[in-house]
Amino acid sequence: MRFTLPVTLLLTSLSLASTYGEEINFDYKKADLPIEKRVEVLLSQMTLEEKVKQLTQGLAGDNNNPNNQNPKVDKFDALLGSVIFGTDNVYERNAIQKQVMEKSRLGIPLLFGDDIIHGYRTMFPSPLAQSCSWNPSLIEESCRVAALEGKSAGIDWTFSPMIDIARDARWGRMMEGYGEDPYATSVYTRAAVRGYQGETMPYRMAACLKHYVAYGASEGGRDYAYTEVSRQTLWDTYLPPYEAGVEAGALTLMSGFNDISGIPATANHYTLTEVLRGKWDFRGFVVSDWHSMAQLQTHGFVADHAEAAAKSINAGLDMDMIDGIYPAHLANQVKEGNVSEKTIDESVARVLRVKFQLGLFDNPYTPVEEREKRYLLPEYRKAAYQSAVESMVLLKNDDKALPITNKIKNVALIGPLVKAKNDLMGGWSARGRAEDVIDIEEGLRKAAPKGMKIKYAQGCDINSDKTDRFAEAMEIARNSDIVILCVGESRGMSGENTSRSSLSLPGVQEQLIDEIAKTGKPVVLLVTSGRAISFHKIEPKVKSILMTWHLGTEAGNAIAALLFGNENPSGRLSITLPRTEGQIPIYYNMRSRGRRHQGFYQDISTDPMYWFGHGLSYTSYDYTDFKVSHNEFTASDNLTVSVNVRNTGEKTGKETVFLYMHDVAASITQPMKRLIGFEKVELKPNESKTVTFTLEPQKDMSFANDKGDKLLEPGKFVLMVDKHKKDVFLKK
Ligand code: BGC
Repeated sequence: MRFTLPVTLLLTSLSLASTYGEEINFDYKKADLPIEKRVEVLLSQMTLEEKVKQLTQGLAGDNNNPNNQNPKVDKFDALLGSVIFGTDNVYERNAIQKQVMEKSRLGIPLLFGDDIIHGYRTMFPSPLAQSCSWNPSLIEESCRVAALEGKSAGIDWTFSPMIDIARDARWGRMMEGYGEDPYATSVYTRAAVRGYQGETMPYRMAACLKHYVAYGASEGGRDYAYTEVSRQTLWDTYLPPYEAGVEAGALTLMSGFNDISGIPATANHYTLTEVLRGKWDFRGFVVSDWHSMAQLQTHGFVADHAEAAAKSINAGLDMDMIDGIYPAHLANQVKEGNVSEKTIDESVARVLRVKFQLGLFDNPYTPVEEREKRYLLPEYRKAAYQSAVESMVLLKNDDKALPITNKIKNVALIGPLVKAKNDLMGGWSARGRAEDVIDIEEGLRKAAPKGMKIKYAQGCDINSDKTDRFAEAMEIARNSDIVILCVGESRGMSGENTSRSSLSLPGVQEQLIDEIAKTGKPVVLLVTSGRAISFHKIEPKVKSILMTWHLGTEAGNAIAALLFGNENPSGRLSITLPRTEGQIPIYYNMRSRGRRHQGFYQDISTDPMYWFGHGLSYTSYDYTDFKVSHNEFTASDNLTVSVNVRNTGEKTGKETVFLYMHDVAASITQPMKRLIGFEKVELKPNESKTVTFTLEPQKDMSFANDKGDKLLEPGKFVLMVDKHKKDVFLKK
């Protein structure tokens, strides 16, 4: 049975077809044919030019990334494979799509991509903040909401999640990822992929795992810099989250800007082909990062753009983001014999497959709905609030300064972040708008008990050397019972191209803390930032420190709920906070140094300020009955680990139970502690629950060698939960 096409489309296509001198087989438009068949039918009819254009991404609308400014494109090449779509104008999107569908011979829909990193219009906490919630269902929900809002604006593809392990807070992109741990990042990656894509076809939106791979290892925290990564470190630290994301069905990946030990990520055959396709059987496509193909020349890896095109496609890089190098050079590279048409076909098939999986051929247009119906819906705000509540980490709380009780009558609210709506959203805030944000003052005033007076003074700017407003701030501090001091980084101080050599608070904020502390009033420090901050000098001067990160649209409401005790802090750090930048790199899952009793820093403690996993609550928990099903086990036994957790305080709370292990002697040395499970449980006062983990030794307790083989060797393993430890032995 032949597929009947709408007359207009059929006429356009046939007339175009006649210019090529042959009739088109439109079977690829039949929704009931298997995707592989549709890909095959379409691909077999494409010219080399059409193929190369499918591997090309352009730009449409305004671009919201200040690092990547290109002139606006008004006219569309109807053959393009994709565009970065920088506005939420659905009419414009559909008009462009119409040109593509109707003016091209084959009518291959355009794929609209955008950076939706932690929300689209409803802004969620930064990914780094979200990872401190230890609640993957919240991450899934934040990605689902972002996808629903983004999709309603015409976006088919988000360049997210960013899953680069980051252990150097000088690197500003730490805020975009899920912290320092490969296991936690893998769990969150799966949740994010489910949230963005959904689990059945047509997928809601395509996710993009980025920046493949090891971009977080940028030397000295300098963005775009060289990364020295051994194969061993690739496999045990940087690749696991990507493997998890591919397993979870992520449709695309983006290559990193980084040069991986001499072979840049964008033209790295080992990572792009041998690992991704060879070992993991990935069937989607890989896009380059913005100009990363042209940067192969800057890295000194190719002599010119023609060579960049050939090396990238031959390495397994499918789509050119913005560079225009594929359309300029690929066809010629095929003619010259440097690239085979089979290689091009493989890449085109991957791109087409994703378009089919998204249902774009069957529904190329976005339904037009009013903005009020698609953005900031009450359920979206609720999800953003819950995520913000659980993302905050209470680092210090001496004398139970928090929560603020009814006894407090006068609150001094000070600092440059109090009303900084734009900054409270954090970097990569897509279509987020400052006017949607509940700032800290608004949140506190709404939630404050009757009779409590709140006085506000800004004190200083986020990043200037002016101290002329200190006096006013000190005055209100002196007349208060407690000071809430809101310090940190602006929106633009973390994210891409925001490296810093120092982790101190910017500007004169530390000086402001010193001055306020001199009043002798209890100080509660609220820290808005996208990276670790050095608390070395500040910590002794304040009673409490609450890491709020960049919390998004519901920042003020969530902060107020926590400060007044309507919610209980449950966030735990997903990164280690160093005392000073001199301790970098520092992370919890280090390998042991040769002399454990020596090798300490002479000037400061060798321990960080706060370890990964640290975080306080308004209640307390007790861990008992730690049990492991086996003392000795074989590779085919499943181990059951259980522990009883009881809320021993007076407030309901959520506690994350972390399960760690140590492989005591292995043919490749192992971290002293490695996270292999976590679960967050809610407990009322006096309530207890048993948390159980089931471990499959080969999957959960093995380690990777430098080829990615997972080794499980006989011997002693230590399992750890809270302060409990148990030795278990894998038999030969
Ligand atoms: C960033 C990517 C981003 C891309 C498109 C690049 O500069 O590294 O993370 O997805 O721009 O905006």
